[in-house]
Amino acid sequence: VSLRPYTTFGIEAQATYFANIASETDLNTLFQLNEFNELPKLILGGGSNLLLTQNFPGLAIRLNIGGIDVIREDDQHSYVQAGAGVIWHDLVMYCVEHNLAGMENLSLIPGTVGAAPMQNIGAYGVEIEQIFDHLEAIHVGTGEKHRFEHADCQFGYRESVFKHELKGQYIITSVTFRLNKTPIFHTRYGAISETLANMGITDETMSIRAISDAVIQIRRSKLPDPAQIGNAGSFFKNPEIPAAQFEQLKATYPALPGYPTGTDMVKVPAGWLIEQAGWKGYRTGDAGVHTKQALVLVNYGRATGQEILALAYQVQASVLAKFGITISPEVNIL
Ligand code: EPU
Repeated sequence: VSLRPYTTFGIEAQATYFANIASETDLNTLFQLNEFNELPKLILGGGSNLLLTQNFPGLAIRLNIGGIDVIREDDQHSYVQAGAGVIWHDLVMYCVEHNLAGMENLSLIPGTVGAAPMQNIGAYGVEIEQIFDHLEAIHVGTGEKHRFEHADCQFGYRESVFKHELKGQYIITSVTFRLNKTPIFHTRYGAISETLANMGITDETMSIRAISDAVIQIRRSKLPDPAQIGNAGSFFKNPEIPAAQFEQLKATYPALPGYPTGTDMVKVPAGWLIEQAGWKGYRTGDAGVHTKQALVLVNYGRATGQEILALAYQVQASVLAKFGITISPEVNIL
């Protein structure tokens, strides 16, 4: 089965077996089929954070479990549970429409609800861990259902336990978010405040709808639409470097942006480093570096996973040579 339609990079790769899962019952049925027990498994959400570099000799499972429900409420919060297969942006729109605040800054992120906690998706000053309540997941080995609270997930910057100790062991079936009935606006991120100002939004007219609109506008202007150009969003993570190294680099590159994180560390935008190393808009065959955001690698049509990966290594090596900084992939490479 071709996996090309199931990842946003749009790269050709074959899986030996493929299952489309629409409910937990489907999943239980699948687990009872002995012939699949021993096979390696690949769980696909929206396929928006995955680079396939070879065929998959096992069972690809596409999760399509739907449903959005308010499962609990108190004075200040609504707890919204969504099936793993719900399109992330659809959930954001549901919350904006119902005036439930907390995920509006995360508008238009590609992918599904089930994939969101894996890498603690984030944008424009918000990460999902800030609104995460709990999730339910089924153990791949036993078929048993487990509940994970916030602390169990070990969230970090684009990180969770599901990318490390528990990698490949659980299938997330639903995620529950705690949304605010009274909004707290996150508008400090430069691009957000500028866009809101351009839209004529003031403190008096501020709303989660306005923030969502601003985010959508920014993302459309900078990030390629996977329906038109294959990509997986940011290919690399923004590296954190020691403050002393940052000061040294700043002497040579006065324009180098940096955001202090905790004590003695500074987070540097990889997009800036890659652009300065001369890669922005670079193209070789159908593999390239996006023209408007150097952090995003793109597939213009028929690039192979190996070609994208080779380009990623070249970019990585040149950033290391120029700045002495190692940037590491954010995307899962298979
Ligand atoms: N920059 C450049 N050149 C570029 C790209 C960026 O100079 O080609 C500079 C910008 O001028 C700015 C800084 O880098 O000073 C930051 O750029 P931007 O606001 O575009 O954000 P980012 O750090 O490149 C991160 C996330 C994005 C997220 C944005 C907004 C990571 C790996 N990426 O990108 O997330 O949308 O912030 O919050 O943290 C994703 O994970 O797939 C993703 C798109």
